[in-house]
Amino acid sequence: MRYLLSAPHMSGKEQEYIKEVFKSNFIAPLGEFVDKFEDSIKQYTKSKNALALNSGTAALHLALRVSGVKEGDIVLASSFTFIASVAPIRYLKAKPVFIDCDETYGIDPSLLKKAINESEKKPKALILTHLYGNSAKMKEIINLCKENDIVLIEDAAEALGSFYDKKSLGTFGTFGVYSFNGNKIITTSGGGMLVSDDEKALQKARFYSTQAREKCLHYEHLDYGYNYRLSNVLGAIGVAQMEILEERVKKKRQIYEWYKEFLDGYLNFFDELANSRSNRWLSTATIDFSEKDLFKFEKKEYASAVDVKINPKIQKIIKDLKDNDIESRPMWKAMHLQKVFEGELAYLNSNSQGFFENGICLPSSTVMQKDDVKLVSEIIIKSIG
Ligand SMILES: Cc1ncc(COP(=O)(O)O)c(C=O)c1O
Repeated sequence: MRYLLSAPHMSGKEQEYIKEVFKSNFIAPLGEFVDKFEDSIKQYTKSKNALALNSGTAALHLALRVSGVKEGDIVLASSFTFIASVAPIRYLKAKPVFIDCDETYGIDPSLLKKAINESEKKPKALILTHLYGNSAKMKEIINLCKENDIVLIEDAAEALGSFYDKKSLGTFGTFGVYSFNGNKIITTSGGGMLVSDDEKALQKARFYSTQAREKCLHYEHLDYGYNYRLSNVLGAIGVAQMEILEERVKKKRQIYEWYKEFLDGYLNFFDELANSRSNRWLSTATIDFSEKDLFKFEKKEYASAVDVKINPKIQKIIKDLKDNDIESRPMWKAMHLQKVFEGELAYLNSNSQGFFENGICLPSSTVMQKDDVKLVSEIIIKSIG
């Protein structure tokens, strides 16, 4: 492919650090670079504790487990997200309640309030996704969690380098989660990070991430855990990638501005929340769908895999780009529209379905220059006709 949605972009230091790992023979488990990677995340996000893991999904699973989520518990969650945000609810046999989004792509606080007020029992936790790097309305959401004693878990897998009120997304809740899989703003080829200011909670997650082994000479277990830690080799890649994170954010934001300039009048762009900085992980836009098309209704419903159709204009743009060897894709299909979650409770307002039907993720790789964005935009304009 000529342009990918979000290709890995090395800093140039990765191989040097990997060489050091091999020289020490500490390729696994853990080692100095895993510690350094955790330190660099702590420093950047100003989180007090960080735990390097082998995926963002693992971090979400641990956050729920440490929050005490058990079979039959209610966990509120963003519906407009990738399945990895919510699959761990099922791992623990808890019950998801999906909440639709507002113009930030994040949870709509008024629907969240309704879901909390109407809940048959007190929800244990809320998984809030900051989608495509954009901040949700943190003030309102934090207040609702505090007032109702709900553990806030921020899925900031796509939002490292994003801020609300000058504070890193992922550091508002009891737990924050980042992902370093291949298409994220920085990558370790695969990996994740769990952050928390609650040292005890993070220690517990650390314990579960290494098979819940008791502190003694032999292997003693009073509980079961997982094999979720990151290797030292991948830690070395993470350290090198953290050195250029700010550069990558600047470039992603620049790419977004170029798209806005070239596609003005053709596609709609949703601004970031005032008082926030999106990392613009992926540049996203919609066609035939803008602010005035949001909030068409408000209802409590059961998730159902109804026949939802992507706007033919979006389908055509994606095909025309593909014919030119350019990757793009529809926006995430909300969880309440997925067969796997059929029958789960959902609080809806029409927004996430609208974004799915009319939205597109544009190629946003940080190697792209202004001319590349122009070329992609020209193909889109021609496609719209
Ligand atoms: C919103 C969201 N949550 C969670 C994840 C899971 O991260 P990982 O792929 O590292 O398990 C991803 C990315 O894949 C994501 O985009």
